[in-house]
Amino acid sequence: MSHDYRALNRASWDERAPAHAASPDYGFSRFAADPRYLSEVVTFDLPRLGSVSGLRGVHLQCHIGTDTVSLARLGARMCGVDFSPAALVEARRLAQLAGVDVDFREADVYLASEVLGRGAFDLVFTGIGALCWLPDIRRWAEVVAALLRPGGRLFLREGHPMLLSLAEIGPDGRLVVEDAYFERSDPTVIEQCGTYVETGAAFSRNLTHQWNHGLGELITALLDQRMLITALVEHDSVPWEALPGHMERLALGEWRLRDRPFRLPHTYTLQAIKG
Ligand SMILES: C[S@@+](CC[C@H](N)C(=O)[O-])C[C@H]1O[C@@H](n2cnc3c(N)ncnc32)[C@H](O)[C@@H]1O
Repeated sequence: MSHDYRALNRASWDERAPAHAASPDYGFSRFAADPRYLSEVVTFDLPRLGSVSGLRGVHLQCHIGTDTVSLARLGARMCGVDFSPAALVEARRLAQLAGVDVDFREADVYLASEVLGRGAFDLVFTGIGALCWLPDIRRWAEVVAALLRPGGRLFLREGHPMLLSLAEIGPDGRLVVEDAYFERSDPTVIEQCGTYVETGAAFSRNLTHQWNHGLGELITALLDQRMLITALVEHDSVPWEALPGHMERLALGEWRLRDRPFRLPHTYTLQAIKG
């Protein structure tokens, strides 16, 4: 594993955060215009989320804060954590635009419980392109368990590791399994000049290191922290165009394979309670 994966990845996120905040896809103007507006990601999972009103919540890898602010609008007392200072500038600006109070903190996710305190939260919310930046799912599960009070809940919606193992679709239109499904110590090194939202911005910090984590590895890591898995739903859609050119856009900014989408779990929502 490269020792500088954090610096490499942070530079890429710092450069992209202002472009993301300016993109119509993240909807900053909708948050400002409508006090009841919620991000599409939070809206998608409302049937599973239940009431969060009054909960002390932490959003790990909160990026520019759209889901964090949405949870605050639903009544949770939210804290957002990210290691990108540029993302947090945008997140704080969004909270102000939306008229909600959120405590945004700069920290590496592996240090979140040291920075925020052990057992300080009723809810840990995370996902949608979060776990792929972490080399070790067991360390992440330790942090989640440390942040939660006994009885507290993890709510995670994430890209399915099977989807993430598909580099692209082959010339004959077939799905090709190209990258690791299981966690490996070596990262997948990715060079990508663009980003996943609509933007005219050009980027120069394009090299990142990423990791996949199998579903069994994730669940075992949580069980080993005495987390009780209470829900696991696999979805046939994903909130970004994961296989460009081969997906169709649905409601709520979701994307689905155009051809026989039933072949592939695109994302999952997992919930677990700290014992
Ligand atoms: C795809 S975004 C998360 C997306 C979020 N669900 C959203 O759409 O707004 C990934 C975020 O993880 C953050 N990140 C990556 N590695 C991190 C680390 N080691 N510690 C803390 N934050 C990290 C990045 O700065 C970025 O803001």
